[in-house]
Amino acid sequence: MPIYLPPISRRQFLVRSLVGGAALALTPELLAASRRTDSNSWALLSDIHLCADPGLVARGINMTDHFKQVSRELLALPKRPAGVFITGDCAYNNGEVADYAHMADLLEPIRKDQMPVHLVLGNHDNRERFWEALPQEKAAKRPLADRQVALIRTSRANWFVLDSLEKTLSTPGLLGQEQLDWLAGALDANRHKPALVLVHHNPGTMASVSGLKDTEALYAIIRPRKQVKAYIFGHTHVWQVAQDPSGIHLINLPPVAYVFREGEPAGWVHATLDRKGMRLELRCLDTSHKAHAQVTDLRWRA
Ligand SMILES: [Fe+2]
Repeated sequence: MPIYLPPISRRQFLVRSLVGGAALALTPELLAASRRTDSNSWALLSDIHLCADPGLVARGINMTDHFKQVSRELLALPKRPAGVFITGDCAYNNGEVADYAHMADLLEPIRKDQMPVHLVLGNHDNRERFWEALPQEKAAKRPLADRQVALIRTSRANWFVLDSLEKTLSTPGLLGQEQLDWLAGALDANRHKPALVLVHHNPGTMASVSGLKDTEALYAIIRPRKQVKAYIFGHTHVWQVAQDPSGIHLINLPPVAYVFREGEPAGWVHATLDRKGMRLELRCLDTSHKAHAQVTDLRWRA
């Protein structure tokens, strides 16, 4: 079973609602429960930086408020996304157990609406405390026992969730040989469907020590395996779509939390898969931002 926070069951949800009283029959949650799911639609979130203190403001924004706004947007979509990915930096700064407990509370409406949530770890997370706060995640069977790694098979793509958290509060990331070996084997065993790789850290360059330290080793695995179509990451708090020389799309997700440079958009990305590519729609928290609703159509390399 892949590692993720599963939806809270409809039955469990209805029992809770009935206990709460008949007035709940008109709540947005119940209305949302009748939505149809689009199995090709995915919500891509990154760098939510949630703190146990819901009132905490950093770099001029309240992270809890930002997350709640995105949550409301997901619940209001005409069709329910098949799932949500959060590509790391789930916690505010150093991954406290209480940060993850707060995150779990904030994820409840999404999970009640039957959206599974797949969580990725970043350099502001702490793996042990993440698992301590989320026993379901700790108990889940993983391809690598000591890393938050998963392979999620869906109708139009296989999602490879990698764990680049090397050391909490140390900026660069590292996958390590064991994880790279697993990835190569898992890709070889799943050749016939587009593969999308999710990692918190951006590709590192010789000039930058803040990204993924073993980028070249990762590229050596994913470039020749033509089923790999995209490398999706966060970490930089910048929205950008580029392409590496082999044709792999490099999708840098915006932060749900704060931006580092004024004017950059904070928000999330609504991804819709088709047979030959993926459509990305940027959803800015500030809907007056010039990049809000910007659509990028990606075609897969051959
Ligand atoms: Fe971050």
